[in-house]
Amino acid sequence: MKKLIIANWKMNPASLKEAKALFDATKKNTAKLKKVETVICPPFVYLAAFGSFGFARASGSGTRLSKSQAVSVGSQNCFYSDKGAFTGEVSPVMLKSIGVKYVIVGHSERRAMGETDEMINKKIKSALACGLKVIFCVGEKERNVDGEYLNVVKKQLQIGLAGADKKMLKNLFVAYEPVWAISTNRSASGGKAVEDSPDSFLRMSLFIRKVLFEMFGNAWQHSTPVLYGGSVNAQNAEGFLKAGLAAGLLVGGKSLDKKEFGEILKIGEMA
Ligand code: PGA
Repeated sequence: MKKLIIANWKMNPASLKEAKALFDATKKNTAKLKKVETVICPPFVYLAAFGSFGFARASGSGTRLSKSQAVSVGSQNCFYSDKGAFTGEVSPVMLKSIGVKYVIVGHSERRAMGETDEMINKKIKSALACGLKVIFCVGEKERNVDGEYLNVVKKQLQIGLAGADKKMLKNLFVAYEPVWAISTNRSASGGKAVEDSPDSFLRMSLFIRKVLFEMFGNAWQHSTPVLYGGSVNAQNAEGFLKAGLAAGLLVGGKSLDKKEFGEILKIGEMA
């Protein structure tokens, strides 16, 4: 299976012009990749330009993204109803209709803005139901010595996936992102060098599979890919992919740096 390397641009860059330039530069870096699928997740407003229906116009190159190309487009969020009186929201069906393939659900920055496990559960079910691939983010705010953080992640998984249709779980990816290791949180805490390790990620990904097994039984626990996110850069990417056995990476800050993100993609190809 291909490694999934996801660029979470968050609320960047500031203009469509810059977004197009970054998209094109990133796409160029994926040209020779065979073992990596790159997913670019720009802000909502740029999605229509980059989804498979809009790419020809956005790039001016006259080529569309085809299924075989190594770049896919993802959204950073979605709502849970298909349509209706929900001012400011965007539905999974709308995303699908413009060629978006992936959606990130439950990112810690959205949880911090009030998104609950119950809302995340509705979003995941609705996104899976319309055929989107879901990158479900889980992760604790702090690592306490008594192991309580394991219960935090377990609860996020149990509520987030409650009642999910087993048949649709083939489109589910779990991204483990310890909140304390996300780059912007680290700088907020005075730049303290708190980095997760491949070894601790590996243990957490086994725990995540165990919880999925308890919930869904059968073979799903083996097939759900678990990705790592949190201050991924060109120095630590190989460790998470090789020693940590991560199925992919969710990259925030460094996905805005075309050179470093290009290096991370190359590392993914070799890992
Ligand atoms: P980071 O962000 O790579 O800047 O730590 C990751 C994320 O929040 O998805």
